[in-house]
Amino acid sequence: MVKIAPSILSADFAKLGEEVRKVDEAGADFIHIDVMDGSFVPNITFGMPVIKAIRSYTKKVFDLHLMIDEPSKFIDDFISAGADLITIHYEADKHIDRTINYIKSKGIKAGISLNPGTPVSLIKDLIPSLDMVLIMSVNPGFGGQKFISYSIDKVKEVKQISENTNKDLLIQVDGGIDSTNIKSVVDAGANVIVAGSAIFKDGKLKENIALLRESI
Ligand code: DX5
Ligand code: ZN
Repeated sequence: MVKIAPSILSADFAKLGEEVRKVDEAGADFIHIDVMDGSFVPNITFGMPVIKAIRSYTKKVFDLHLMIDEPSKFIDDFISAGADLITIHYEADKHIDRTINYIKSKGIKAGISLNPGTPVSLIKDLIPSLDMVLIMSVNPGFGGQKFISYSIDKVKEVKQISENTNKDLLIQVDGGIDSTNIKSVVDAGANVIVAGSAIFKDGKLKENIALLRESI
């Protein structure tokens, strides 16, 4: 069963709690929360106080996508704020194995994300101990960008490794996903789909999530 993870980056920030509640009721499986620090990526979003403030609006999985340098410094704070799953970028942490083990030792799920230019081979040895791999299908930093098609091959590569070493692995794809390309990433092996603008663009959350599911 493919999970849909709406990215609240495309929601109305002036009423974020309400938006989270609405997208939960519209059929979201995970709430995808994009944290950006203005250093790892050229944009800044929000941090722990905002995540804490919206936590009570849903019981769905808080799927934190940390686009920040040195994420290990903030793991405890993000867990206190309400994270269920924390994904860090391979490119942002010199000691990725240590940080992944630390996240898991705290009793929540851990994922690694790869920028478009980062090959899957670099995390091959870590895949058996991960809960999720996130293949970025845009360069991170902004919603509403164009899907990078070579991401499909990277998803296939992760799927193949997981077949042998970690059958329960969540394989997430994030960036530029809409009803025209969702099938291609799911057919490649993705089982958690992030979508921001395709879901929040016109306020018709329920219809847009339904359309994504029908297009698989
Ligand atoms: C990009 C973020 C994505 C983004 C997806 O850096 O990680 O989660 O919000 O937005 P769309 O679906 O509009 O590309
Ligand atoms: Zn994201």
